[in-house]
Amino acid sequence: MKVRKAVIPAAGLGTRVLPASKSIPKEMLPIVDKPAIQYIVEEAVAAGLTEILIITNRGKVAIEDHFDHSFELEAALSKNPEKAEIYKSVQIPANLANITFIRQKETGGLGHAVLKAKQFIGGEPFAVLYGDDVILGEDPCVGQLCRAYEEYGKGVVGIKEVTPQQIKKYSSMKVSPLKDNLYEITDMIEKPKTDADIFSLFSILGRCVLPAEIFEILENTPKGAGGELQLTDAMKTLSRTKGMVGVDFTGTRYDMGNKFGILKANIDVGLSHPETKEELAAYIKEIAKTL
Ligand code: UTP
Repeated sequence: MKVRKAVIPAAGLGTRVLPASKSIPKEMLPIVDKPAIQYIVEEAVAAGLTEILIITNRGKVAIEDHFDHSFELEAALSKNPEKAEIYKSVQIPANLANITFIRQKETGGLGHAVLKAKQFIGGEPFAVLYGDDVILGEDPCVGQLCRAYEEYGKGVVGIKEVTPQQIKKYSSMKVSPLKDNLYEITDMIEKPKTDADIFSLFSILGRCVLPAEIFEILENTPKGAGGELQLTDAMKTLSRTKGMVGVDFTGTRYDMGNKFGILKANIDVGLSHPETKEELAAYIKEIAKTL
């Protein structure tokens, strides 16, 4: 079955990037000149997913405004021929996709947020793009996962190997090779506490494609780490019963919920952006001499 819909949970508290995220949603923090969540919507659209649900909460109206028209701004820019390029860039977010919003009224975890999408999704498979994980590359990451879903008919997770230090903060996958960069996943654990709990250094990073049956599993999953309903716990049940597929995806992932991730994203994108690349490269070379 073809994947058409995407869900972007963006209702977390963003405590790791406070105070920046106190009144600005962390998903709106910029990478050079675009908010993180616009890169994520663009990735979904590039993969053919144009029915998008963004899960927000009461502090996040800036996200809704960003994907809407700003008539006053557009009217002012349209009158100035010198601002034609900026005028175009301001209109892009409003025309990208068919975007719907729903609120998660309490912060109950990623699983709790995804459950809010049940009605929007109906009985179809759907992609989940974590709202603070920007993945940049030639081949849109979520498209790689959709192709695996369409080939195997099983839930798919985007995975990458992380360091032994990182794995205890992430999830760990029990994997066996299928072909190329694809793996079968038969079990997983969220935030393994001891070395014995670690299946492998493969962790889920920011993207998955799930069958609609995940909603029933979520409804029957008890609260997990941090007293919150964890999506990984529901995917664990799915992997144990039906098996899942892991895609060791191509692309660079930036964790925009983390201070260093924000810096890395801005440096990498800044070094390829036509308006900043030369000045930034010269600046980095200059300060590197003092490090
Ligand atoms: P994170 O765990 O990275 O987000 O969730 P967080 O809770 O905001 O992070 P910290 O630890 O407080 O800094 C991954 C994604 O899931 C969303 C977040 O907005 C983020 O995009 N999320 C998380 C929700 O939508 N609802 C939740 O209850 C929790």
